[in-house]
Amino acid sequence: MVKGSVHLLLFLYLSAISVGIAGRVVPLHEPFDKSTFSRSFSSIFDTSKYGILQLNNGLARTPQMGWNSWNFFACNINETVIKETADALVSTGLADLGYVYVNIDDCWSSLVRDSKGQLVPDPKTFPSGIKALADYVHAKGLKLGIYSDAGIFTCQVRPGSIYHERDDAELFASWGVDYLKYDNCYNLGIKPKERYPPMRDALNATGRTIFYSLCEWGVDDPALWAGKVGNSWRTTDDINDSWASMTTIADLNDKWAAYAGPGGWNDPDMLEVGNGGMTLEEYRAHFSIWALMKAPLLVGCDVRNITAETFEIIGNKEVIDINQDSLGIQGRKVHVSGKDGCRQVWAGPLSGHRLVVALWNRCSKAATITVGWEVLGLESSMSVSIRDLWKHEDLSGDAVASFGSRVAVHDCEMYIFTPVSASRSAV
Ligand SMILES: *[C@@H]1O[C@H](CO)[C@@H](O)[C@H](O)[C@H]1NC(C)=O
Ligand SMILES: *[C@@H]1O[C@H](CO)[C@@H](O)[C@H](O)[C@H]1NC(C)=O
Ligand SMILES: *[C@@H]1O[C@H](CO)[C@@H](O)[C@H](O)[C@H]1NC(C)=O
Ligand SMILES: *[C@@H]1O[C@H](CO)[C@@H](O)[C@H](O)[C@H]1NC(C)=O
Repeated sequence: MVKGSVHLLLFLYLSAISVGIAGRVVPLHEPFDKSTFSRSFSSIFDTSKYGILQLNNGLARTPQMGWNSWNFFACNINETVIKETADALVSTGLADLGYVYVNIDDCWSSLVRDSKGQLVPDPKTFPSGIKALADYVHAKGLKLGIYSDAGIFTCQVRPGSIYHERDDAELFASWGVDYLKYDNCYNLGIKPKERYPPMRDALNATGRTIFYSLCEWGVDDPALWAGKVGNSWRTTDDINDSWASMTTIADLNDKWAAYAGPGGWNDPDMLEVGNGGMTLEEYRAHFSIWALMKAPLLVGCDVRNITAETFEIIGNKEVIDINQDSLGIQGRKVHVSGKDGCRQVWAGPLSGHRLVVALWNRCSKAATITVGWEVLGLESSMSVSIRDLWKHEDLSGDAVASFGSRVAVHDCEMYIFTPVSASRSAV
């Protein structure tokens, strides 16, 4: 009973935190009183850095969701494709699921600034200008994102914003832009810590609330400082549409889990789901782990031409809800076994006395993966109800001590674990 009570307290406490976050703006360092946590739970899900650094611009209470042009279109963009994508986000139902940012990546701008030193949309590909595009996107209830670079050029050699932060931020705000992705090419060898804050201040000075997405590729360990600068920060080099890239990036991003929280998120880069370079099982794993890691969910495929299989993955509301959970704690890799640690358990705390648990098979053939309660910080006697988020069904009302499942090669099963005693007591 004593052990059960400790867990009950813990889960009630987690629930109180989430209510606090949803209900009002609380100082983000307030919630975690370590004395309330059982020893193993707080060492497994270290939250010592949670909420201590976040930028206070009111955005990113949960990770951003939307679409970005780069992974599918690269430089081959124009205002038609952006508008058609906005249309498709609405008509497919993705917008209703939370994918609201329509983010234009590199190549929207002309090669040179105008005679007044202002950025100019490429007249061939964006002849109506960005303001018209923002109006179009806003009329659909969506938000528009744009791209620039904390250097003298963007990666595709358009003008960068270093030393033009004030002008460019004011221009973006005047167009009605809602989001800025800020890249790291042609940076003159100046430290990111010096180049990224001026744009934060310039965006703030416009008075328009603009999501600030840092893209310095993880080179200067941004988790350690970027929370005060932006709403999210890339932790790695660019993703590409391959199993090798996706798994490498997941592991690199995992290292910084303790630093994510409402207001500021680790960004392991945009989704490749639907682009064809991985199997459906691999894409399911990609989406599951990104959701669990509280990564931005920025779709990177051509949503105008999305397949039913791709929609089933990125449109899985139960998995999206894990990503958007109000508690905002990044889940992490908690246990590995097998050759090269290929049988993996990833998990994290959720609001409402729950845990998300993913069984990820990174081995070269199907495998049974078992999670023992001890790796989750649960007492082995705790009875747990389990819901499968990919099969959309309740599996067990009273699992005790451990749970295992056969997982297809490179696939990832994902569950919500609700300790039963805690859920009964909470009303
Ligand atoms: C706009 O871009 C799309 C995607 O690259 C392309 O298929 C289309 O032909 C372009 N339209 C115009 C008018 O350039
Ligand atoms: C500017 O920064 C201040 C201080 O962090 C914050 O309260 C305010 O909401 C910010 N304004 C905008 C438009 O981001
Ligand atoms: C994709 O990323 C992987 C892992 O980082 C790398 O080995 C591979 O060369 C990349 N592929 C391409 C086409 O860039
Ligand atoms: C739509 O997707 C299918 C396969 O998913 C592809 O074969 C086809 O070329 C795509 N159409 C366009 C217009 O991109």
